[in-house]
Amino acid sequence: MSSFSFDSWSQTQRTKFERSLRSVFSSHSESCIRTAIEYPLQTGGKRIRPLFVLAAAEAFGEYNTESALCSSLSIELIHTYSLVHDDLPCMDDDDLRRGKPTVHKQYGEAPALLVGDALLTEAFAVLSNSPHLKQTLPIISKAAGISGMIGGQSIDIGFEGAVTTLEDLTRLHVHKTGALIKASCLLGGIAAEASIRELMLLETYGNAVGLAFQLADDLLDEEEDKEENGPPSFVKLLGAEETRATALRYHAQALEICLSLPNPQALRALADFSVSRTY
Ligand code: IPE
Ligand code: IPE
Ligand code: MG
Ligand code: MG
Repeated sequence: MSSFSFDSWSQTQRTKFERSLRSVFSSHSESCIRTAIEYPLQTGGKRIRPLFVLAAAEAFGEYNTESALCSSLSIELIHTYSLVHDDLPCMDDDDLRRGKPTVHKQYGEAPALLVGDALLTEAFAVLSNSPHLKQTLPIISKAAGISGMIGGQSIDIGFEGAVTTLEDLTRLHVHKTGALIKASCLLGGIAAEASIRELMLLETYGNAVGLAFQLADDLLDEEEDKEENGPPSFVKLLGAEETRATALRYHAQALEICLSLPNPQALRALADFSVSRTY
């Protein structure tokens, strides 16, 4: 029987990751913009994308820790920038994030725009130190850009037309949330120098778990999404029960993939967390 504890694994990984994340901006001289940039990095995100990178790398046993670190930092910086811009008045106009004032509430709208820009730029500066840059750069660029997260945000704000069908909504979730999660899994595989066949397994796992994660989000946000101007959501389209059942189907697909990997315990636990999470 496995003695793997997800709590202790994730705690250990997060502690190491937080230390590295804090050091990203510490070499820049102190300034108001540096303080504002550090603010959304220190308000307590789950760090699920870095955990996916590390879990996917561990799924193959040995891996290049520098590669995994550069990729996980880069992806978390991109995720954080996406949240800062997503909260702006011209986007979702949110006052709170993780229970604390959003960056534009704390520092103003123009600084918040710059904070997002700086986080995105620094993501690529950090990535430039990756020993696997040639493989990781296209994965991160695609996941963050028009074919990934930005494409999803564009659908989310209605710029691509109304989101009315299950197909539209799945496309939205695959891009907005799934792209960075899938990329995180692939980046872990790259750090472990996984084969093309193994990367394809991680891609399938990442797709399934990314959707499961976002469906869990729709369930958690059921009340606030109900509002008249609320975002498109699976719960609104299918109801809570069917959304839960769909999330569990994606979860089962992710677990199925884990059967083909040599050391999948952390990936399995992350799939479980993605659907059972309460925050
Ligand atoms: C929030 O992502 C936005 C989505 C893509 C669902 P997370 O739930 O990973 O946010 P934090 O970083 O843990 O706050
Ligand atoms: C967050 O999306 C931003 C991205 C995924 C790019 P949402 O607007 O759906 O998530 P919350 O509710 O603000 O965290
Ligand atoms: Mg949004
Ligand atoms: Mg939002």
